[in-house]
Amino acid sequence: MEITLRINGAEHRADVEPRTLLVHFIRETAGLTGTNIGCDTSSCGACTVHLDGESVKSCTVLAVQADGSEITTIEGLAAADGTLHPMQEAFRQHHGLQCGYCTPGMVMAATSLLEENPDPTEREVREGLEGNLCRCTGYHNIVKAVLAAASGDPSSEPSMTPVDVTSGGRS
Ligand code: FES
Ligand code: FES
Repeated sequence: MEITLRINGAEHRADVEPRTLLVHFIRETAGLTGTNIGCDTSSCGACTVHLDGESVKSCTVLAVQADGSEITTIEGLAAADGTLHPMQEAFRQHHGLQCGYCTPGMVMAATSLLEENPDPTEREVREGLEGNLCRCTGYHNIVKAVLAAASGDPSSEPSMTPVDVTSGGRS
C-alpha cells in the first residue's frame, strides 16, 4: 500500500505492507534511527515521536494509519543550524542520560508534556513520563532537566525532592 508521511518536514513516500509499524517506517524506510525500539510492546516509550503534534509510541501505530501525517522525531527537534532544542539542552546540562537509549523518547515525551502543561510540578513531570522507562534508572536527572526546560532556562537548578536511596524504586 502506497503511503506518504512528512517526517521532520521532508516527504517520504513508500509502498508498505499493511502490518508495517510506524517505528519501522521511521527507522528503515526514512533511515532516521534516533527513534529507538526498546520493547515493541508499548511498554517502554523508547519509540516516542510526535504524530500531528501529539506524543505517540510509534510501535503502537501502523504506518498506514499515519498516512498523510506530520511526524517529528528526535532528529527534527534541533534548529536547522544545529542549535539544540531547549529540552535537549536541559538534558545535556543536567546529565539527563546515562546510556542514552531512552533519551530520544524521553525528550519527545517531555516536549509534549510541556506543551500541555508548561509549568508542571515535579510530581506532574514524574506522572507525565510514566510511560517512558529508563533502564539505567536515571530518573532524577531526567525530571530535573524537564523542570529546568520548563523554567525557560535549561541550565537553571530546579529544587528537587531528595533521592531516597533506600526505596529501590524510581527516583
Ligand atoms: S518500543 Fe515502543 S514502547 Fe517500547
Ligand atoms: S539512559 Fe539508559 S535507558 Fe535511560
